Order: sequence, then C-alpha cells, then structure tokens
Amino acid sequence: MSSTTNPTHILVTGASGFLGGAVMAQLIETPLWDSCLFLVRASSPEEGLARLVANLRRFAVPEAQLWRFALAQVVCGDLGSVDDYIADERLTRVTHVINCAAIASFGKNPLIWTTNVDSTVNFAECLHAKARLQRFIHVGTAMVCGPEARSPVSETDDPGRDIRHLVEYTESKIEAERRLRALPGLPLVVARPSIVVGHTHLGCQPSGSIFWVFRMALAMGCFTCDFDERIDVIPVDYCANALLHLALKPQLAHDLYHISSGPDESCSFRQIDAAMAEATGRPRHDHYRRLGYDALAAMRPHFDDYFGRCNKRIMLRAIRTYGDFAELGLLFDNRRLLAEGMAPPLRFDRYVGLCAQTSGAQTIAEQMTVDFK
Ligand SMILES: NC(=O)c1ccc[n+]([C@@H]2O[C@H](COP(=O)([O-])OP(=O)(O)OC[C@H]3O[C@@H](n4cnc5c(N)ncnc54)[C@H](OP(=O)(O)O)[C@@H]3O)[C@@H](O)[C@H]2O)c1
Repeated sequence: MSSTTNPTHILVTGASGFLGGAVMAQLIETPLWDSCLFLVRASSPEEGLARLVANLRRFAVPEAQLWRFALAQVVCGDLGSVDDYIADERLTRVTHVINCAAIASFGKNPLIWTTNVDSTVNFAECLHAKARLQRFIHVGTAMVCGPEARSPVSETDDPGRDIRHLVEYTESKIEAERRLRALPGLPLVVARPSIVVGHTHLGCQPSGSIFWVFRMALAMGCFTCDFDERIDVIPVDYCANALLHLALKPQLAHDLYHISSGPDESCSFRQIDAAMAEATGRPRHDHYRRLGYDALAAMRPHFDDYFGRCNKRIMLRAIRTYGDFAELGLLFDNRRLLAEGMAPPLRFDRYVGLCAQTSGAQTIAEQMTVDFK
C-alpha cells in the first residue's frame, strides 16, 4: 500500500531501542509499513537507517524484508532538538505516534529529567501543532505508582505528587504524563508496561535487559524477595503488540492502560527457577533465601564466582536498585487492556528457558551492561 493511499501514518520514536525495536519489527510485516516514519538519533539518514536495520536484525527480521526499509522513512533527530526537524514536511502527514524514546535507566543519568520530561513534552507539543494527530501513544511505566502502592495496582490509583520514588526515572515518567495531559487537545493515550523481559520466540537475542536480574538472584541463591512471590513480567513482542493495538484501535474506553501480566499470568520466582533449571540442565534451588541488601552485600568477595569477572561497586548498585524493586512484589491490573481485545501475555516461566538459552556465553556482568548506559 502506498503512503499516499494509506491514511494511517505512524511515527515511532525509540526504534533503536528494545520496545521501539519490537514495534518496528512488527510494523515491517504489515501493510502500514511504507507510511511509517522513525525518529532516530543519527548524523545522516544513511546512518539512521543502518542503526534501525541493525536493530531489526536483532529481532530476526528476515533479510528479504529489510529491503522494504527506505531512507525516506528515517527522520534524523533528538527529542531535545525538535527545531532541527519539525519543519520536515513528512511530519505533517503523521496521524499516530508511538513514543518509546526515553532514558530508561534506574541509574543517575544526568539527562533523565530533560529527556523524559522537558524534551518529551516539547516534542509532543510541537508535533501536535504540526500534524493532524489522531492518537499519541506515550509509553510510560507501571512503576510510577511508587513503592507504597497496593498490589494489584489499578490504573485508577493516583500516586499523587507527594509519593517517594525509588529512582529519578519513575519520577520523571509520572511528571511527563502529567505535563502531556495538560497539553490542550493532544489525543493522548498513556501505556504503562510493567517489567519487559525477553521475547517469546527469540528469548534474549534482541536484548538481555533485566533478565540478568533473575540470573543474578538465582546465581546467589538469595535475593530481596520471597521464592513464592509473584512478579509481573511481559515479553517484548507482547508489549509491542499491545502498543500497536492501543495505537490503532479506533475507539478506546480509557486514556491510560497497564500492559502487564496482571495477577493471573504472573509467576513466582520458584516457577522461574524451575523453568530455568529445566532449560539449562542445572538442579533447582532447594535452599533459596530471602535476604536484605546488607546480607547480599556481605557476599561481595564471591561476586566474581557468581557473576563472572565484574566491577563489584556496579554489582552492589544493581543489587540495591533492582533489589528495592523486587522487594515491592507489585502486580499490575491488566483488565482494561484485556477488555480492549488483547489476549493475555505468555507467562514468563513459559519462555524464560529460551531467555536462558539465548543469553549465550554472556556472563551476568556482561549482560547487565545494557541497563547501565
Ligand atoms: N524495558 C522495560 O522493562 C520497560 C518497562 C516499562 C516501561 N518502559 C518504557 O519503555 C520505553 C522504551 O524503553 P526501552 O526499554 O526500549 O529503552 P531503550 O532500549 O533504552 O531504548 C530507548 C530508546 O530511546 C531513544 N532515546 C533516548 N533518548 C533520546 C533522545 N533524547 N532523543 C531521541 N531518542 C532518544 C534511544 O535512542 P539511542 O539508541 O539513540 O540511545 C532508544 O532508541 C521507555 O519510555 C521506558 O520508560 C520500559
């Protein structure tokens, strides 16, 4: 279908990353593809195209499909420098935005606030003024609920302005939502994924993001959560499917959705351990223990044995940050999304074995670098 006859023109941001890459990999198999645009950081369209094609290869898109990607679909730019590309005539045709671009880091990246709040809101405002947007899907995070939220968290639970955030990242994400909501007339729908790990067919081939946390806990045989605690994990292909569903469904009942496993498709650490043990041929854990940060930190002399050669300071920081989140044991209600016609996600323990197998020869310390940019 040519871009002149197709009334749906999607602009995806963050397509060089994990979620945006999964969205792009699904779009290339659809008739909407030729009218899709991708905002990517690059000094030339050729470089941008090369970055995006490399990401499509990580998602195992067949070489024969890659020829469909045209230079004319690449918009070079940064969320923070909208003036450089907003005059681009191609943007006037955009009808739908799937905004995956963000600094998705639990660390202290100095660009978190400017990128996730100021630049994101300015980008949305400028594009809204330029194009006839029918829907602007903003990818948030379910973790904006804060550490005191009651599980299962509902989309109607308002975290309020005074909640404590574990990291600046979640605080920036809720502030972005608030400011986007204040933009008059923006057809905003916020999609809040829970924890995105692996891919149902490709495991960790596209990215090992967050999977290393499970490896880390099971390598130590202890972590900050109970063995029978249930966690809310979704695969990236499901997340991409849901984002496209929310983007393209003509009518939606709400303007805010969790993309999550919900209580029904969540699974426990024990189930994850069993599935990983079966996939890798190691025994299951008999003596897993729940421990606090100090006890975990005291195991520091053995970190190289557990995680491979590593920077112990970074490992401690990872244990602290991801341990704090694991301790919360939050599940996120997904009934709104299911009521819009999405099927539930595949439970994590049904594909976690594939994640283990596709982590290849990477040590835990190597795999975690993706989340410490
Ligand atoms: N992964 C999860 O478990 C998870 C869970 C809940 C919500 N989310 C949300 O999902 C979204 C995507 O996360 P992800 O895991 O896919 O992150 P990711 O792999 O780190 O990808 C981030 C993307 O944003 C782009 N980006 C960052 N700063 C930018 C800027 N200033 N201008 C333009 N593009 C910029 C990056 O481009 P470069 O390649 O050029 O750096 C990259 O394409 C984020 O909003 C995150 O908050 C993720």
